[in-house]
Order: sequence, then structure tokens, then C-alpha cells
Amino acid sequence: MMPTLERPAPIPVPRHPRSVILFHWAAAGLIAFLAASGWTMTRLPPGGEAQFALYQFHKAAGIAVLLVSLARLAWRPFAPPLPLVAATSGPARLARLVHATLFALTLVVPLAGWALVSVSRLDIPVDLVAGLVWPRIPVLADLAPVTKAFWEPVIARAHVVLATGLVALSALHAAAAIFHHVLRADATLRRMLPFAFVPCLVLASPVSRATDWTVDRDRSTLGFVGTETGVPFQGRFTRWTARISFDPAHPQEARIDAEVDIASATTGETRRDAVMRGEEWLDAAGFPRALFSATGFRPIGEGVYEAAGTLALRDQRRPVVLRFALRETAEGTRARGGATLIRTAYGIGRGRWSGLQFVAAEVAVEFDLLARQVP
Ligand code: HEM
Ligand code: HEM
Repeated sequence: MMPTLERPAPIPVPRHPRSVILFHWAAAGLIAFLAASGWTMTRLPPGGEAQFALYQFHKAAGIAVLLVSLARLAWRPFAPPLPLVAATSGPARLARLVHATLFALTLVVPLAGWALVSVSRLDIPVDLVAGLVWPRIPVLADLAPVTKAFWEPVIARAHVVLATGLVALSALHAAAAIFHHVLRADATLRRMLPFAFVPCLVLASPVSRATDWTVDRDRSTLGFVGTETGVPFQGRFTRWTARISFDPAHPQEARIDAEVDIASATTGETRRDAVMRGEEWLDAAGFPRALFSATGFRPIGEGVYEAAGTLALRDQRRPVVLRFALRETAEGTRARGGATLIRTAYGIGRGRWSGLQFVAAEVAVEFDLLARQVP
């Protein structure tokens, strides 16, 4: 059988709090129904039973979105979503903006719908469940008929335009989530999915093949060596995931994707660690993740390979060449190697640290992975 080093089994990644996952998918499901029902009901022959029923379901589901969003807002201080899986500031800022806009729209669109039925001259109640009737907004319901007649089409238009914006932005947002899962192969989608759905989607991702390998976390390390005032110091990352797909018979098809939690960087010295994770150095709060990905390995010796890839660290993306050796051991396959980074190219070490008199520009990144094939 061909020896194959494949993607290690996904290392458990922190998941969004259950409440965040529940509220997210409840809102997403309801919005899918609302988009479909809204579009259909306004195009059915007027006055029919089907149209009436659809309007009632639409209004009840719309109020449910409003309630879910309010609950989500109230619950947020107790269980906030995880920080983004983004290593560069541009996409992260865009993602934050899209999330905030989506969230705002999940409040504004149903409020506009509620305002619309409140100014409607038709006295049709908003039935929720089990005979529960949702009240109209009193100030609007009490307006004079002529004022209502003026506002009804305006609010209807606003509701439709904002709802269309919400649906379009959701589609873009869903496409971004799928892009992260399929092309970046990172944890963005996995950590938002309800647990039961994870295996099927992981299997569906293109980096997952029949010959998966798993990384033995206890016997694998990802570290770095820097030099301060001429003296080398060592550090390591305690939280990271690595996916490796590699068949020595087809090295050009190989692929590595690694994701590193920057806040897990440690040298074992508390004061140095605090400075290193701070804004002038790695800025773990602003750029919580580093991502490395490479496709295609080049054999450069017996069992030794080079992988040219891209490292996204802080707000920079730069080419990096990894060199590593593979060795079969009784415990599994060992992949040992590394790369040299120039810290200043990533803007690491700012202000008084940007000079090289105290800390050298070169930082060696080293890894030593033990991987085993999943039976
Ligand atoms: C997130 C929540 C909501 C979404 C995404 C949504 C979406 C939509 C859409 C797509 C349409 C049809 C637009 C068209 O093609 O003409 C529509 C129409 C409508 N929606 Fe909503 N809706 C929401 C909440 C509500 C709520 C809470 C109510 C009332 C309680 C409501 C009442 C209506 C009414 C009465 C119409 C018909 C408007 C017309 O006749 O022009 N909607 N909605
Ligand atoms: C249809 C309406 C949707 C709305 C309104 C919506 C809204 C949001 C919001 C506001 C967040 C930020 C986290 C939070 O506040 O809970 C979020 C996160 C997320 N959404 Fe959606 N979403 C929708 C649909 C989808 C769909 C269809 C997918 C997947 C195909 C998806 C995948 C995700 C993922 C993976 C995250 C987590 C991002 C991260 O961890 O960085 N969403 N969504």
C-alpha cells in the first residue's frame, strides 16, 4: 500500500457557546422561511385561503425572529461568541461589519413588519401560537386612517427593501462561511455547527480523504526560537491545529493547513509572554489567529521536502518556505522541520522594538509532529 500522510483528525476546536449556536440557527432557519413565504404570499392570487395562511405564518415567524434576536442580545454578556478565526485585519473587519449589520437587520426588519401590520387598515390580528395574539404597536395603531393610508405603503416598501438586504447579505455571509470551510479548511463553520452535523461536513471537505491521519497532540510540538541581546530563547504554541495531506508518490498534490492560536504563545516566562502577546509584538487580541497553508511539496532529498506556502500573521500575508523530514517510527510517522521568518516583515516588534539592537529579526519556527493513520 502506498504510504500516505494525510490530514490529521481535526483537533478539537473551541466551539461557540451553545446559546450562540442555537440562536444563530433558529434565526437563520426562520429567515429562510420568511424570505420564501414573503416572496410567495405577495405573488399568490389575492384573497385566497393559501395566501391568508401564508401571511399569518409569515407574521408569526417574523415576530419569532424579533424575539430570538432580543434573547440573543440579552444573553450576549453571559455567553459572547468566540473571536473571529481571521489572521488579517481587512477580512476580519469586514466580517465584523457584516455580522453587526446582519444582527441589526434581524431586529429592524421584523420591527418594520410589525409597524406595517400596526398601520394596516385591515384589522387582521397577528396570531402566534395556541391562540396567542401579538398586539399592534399602540402609537401606530391609534393613528388617524388618513395618516395610516400615507404610512402603510412607505413602511411596506421599507420592510421589503430591508428584508431583501437581509436575505442578500445572509447569502454572502453563508458563502463566506462555506469558503472558510472548503477552501481555507479552518474552524469557522465547524465551531458554529450543532455537534451532530460536524462529521458529515468534515467528511465533505476536500482535504478529507479515505486515508486520514491523526496527530498525536501529546507528542507533537510547534515552537519558535528568537534571539534577545544575542542569547537564544525558545517558545511554543500550546493551541494549534494542523491538517496535512501528503502522499510521497504524489507530492505535488500535498497540502498543509495550519491554524495557530496566537494567545497560546509561551516562553515559560510570564513577563516576556505578556509583552510578546501584547500589541507591539504578536497582538493576540487584535489578530488572534495565524494561518499557514501550502499546496504541493517538492522533494529535495531522501525523505526531505520543501513546501512553499503563505503565512498570514498579524495583518500581513507573506510567502514562507517550510523544510521538513519524514521518518517512520514504531509510534507513527514523524514530520520534523521548520522555517525562518523575518519578524519585521510581519510588523512584529513595533515602536522601540522595531530596531534590531535587542531582538534579532530572524525567528526560527520549528515543528515536530507525530502522525498516525486512522485505521
Ligand atoms: C426577519 C423577519 C422578516 C423577513 C426576513 C421578512 C421578509 C419579507 C419579504 C421577503 C416579504 C415580501 C417582499 C416582496 O417580495 O414583496 C415580506 C412581506 C411582508 N411581511 Fe415580512 N419579513 C419579516 C418579518 C415580518 C413581520 C414580523 C411581519 C409582521 C408582523 C411581517 C409582515 C409582512 C407583510 C404584511 C408583508 C407584505 C408586504 C406587502 O404586501 O407589500 N414581516 N416580508
Ligand atoms: C440567514 C440568516 C443568517 C444570519 C442573520 C446570520 C447572522 C450571523 C451573525 C450575527 C453572526 C455573528 C455571531 C453571532 O452574533 O451570533 C454569524 C456568525 C456565523 N454564521 Fe451566520 N447568519 C445567517 C446564516 C448563516 C448561514 C446560512 C451560515 C452557513 C452556511 C452561517 C454561518 C455562520 C458562521 C460559520 C458564523 C461564525 C463566524 C465566526 O465564528 O467567525 N450563517 N451569523
